[in-house]
Amino acid sequence: MKKIKCALIGYGGMGHFHAAQYAKQKYVELVAICDSNPEKFKEKEAEINLGKSGKSELDGVKYFASYEELVAGMDFDMLDICLPCPLHAEYAIRAMKDGYHVLCEKPMARTSADAAKMIATSKKTGKKLMIAQCLRFANNFRKIKEIFDSGIYGCLLRMDMRRNGGLPKQAWYRDPAQSGGALLDLHLHDTDFIQYLLGVPDKVMTFGVERTTGGIDDLMSNYIYAGGPKVSSEGSWCRGPWYSSTVAVFEKATVDFCKEGVRVAPVDGKEEIIKVSAKPNPYFNEIAYFSECIVKNKDVEICTP
Ligand SMILES: NC(=O)c1ccc[n+]([C@@H]2O[C@H](COP(=O)([O-])OP(=O)(O)OC[C@H]3O[C@@H](n4cnc5c(N)ncnc54)[C@H](O)[C@@H]3O)[C@@H](O)[C@H]2O)c1
Repeated sequence: MKKIKCALIGYGGMGHFHAAQYAKQKYVELVAICDSNPEKFKEKEAEINLGKSGKSELDGVKYFASYEELVAGMDFDMLDICLPCPLHAEYAIRAMKDGYHVLCEKPMARTSADAAKMIATSKKTGKKLMIAQCLRFANNFRKIKEIFDSGIYGCLLRMDMRRNGGLPKQAWYRDPAQSGGALLDLHLHDTDFIQYLLGVPDKVMTFGVERTTGGIDDLMSNYIYAGGPKVSSEGSWCRGPWYSSTVAVFEKATVDFCKEGVRVAPVDGKEEIIKVSAKPNPYFNEIAYFSECIVKNKDVEICTP
């Protein structure tokens, strides 16, 4: 089967993570990488709060220093955008207008007005657009959704999610005007998963504080679902070592993560461990899903714009 061709733009920390996922894809191959900083092409591997990206197989992959050079010099079907957040809308819109499907890293855009323009461009051009909300594609989070959807442990009564770490080094993250602070860049992972599971809440109440960047660096949210579960989340990038957790309290059992996968603690029974492999990782899964949607001309359903 002939694979579709992908070009990746933004070869920083996340770009290296994405690039490392293409070698074993069924429907897509990586043919080009674009970054305005030529030094990035010398880095074989990146390390961010998620760990090491792993090395990519880049034989035959061409390098470009700008989007304009990429488009002029390469034939491809899909653009994988791993640029800083404030550039997502501009490049996603340009790419869809130029005829490419777009997989774009989170956050979708810096403002909801920009996000709306991306959606409108996707509709107008007929090009597919998916935001890489990775928790939706992580095997352990998929298991939580499967448990929730099955109703096996009854209704969800309460859920708590936490995502705390240190401040990223790059200047654009430290400028809230560009990154949106921990509120937008980090906390949205949990907000997104909560919405994926439970739909848009009736109300959201968020309290946050400034610590280092002048933006909201440390915060907590309550998601109000009338007659539904009590849901809270916490996010911070002023806490040093990385820590994240998800606890889902169902009527008959409490479910959370452990190193083997998912732990189920029944209200009155013995703890059960459900083994869930961390591989393939969510970045592999989201690229696999999006490229399959393109090849089979299916609507993107797991993560709509
Ligand atoms: N899903 C996740 O778990 C996760 C984790 C980290 C980052 N991210 C997201 O990934 C995106 C990228 O983050 P990052 O940490 O890799 O940032 P980064 O600063 O490390 O990388 C961005 C890269 O884009 C390049 N660049 C900037 N402007 C460009 C342009 N006009 N043309 C071409 N290249 C250009 C820079 O040289 C840099 O190499 C952000 O939206 C971030 O929120 C997601």
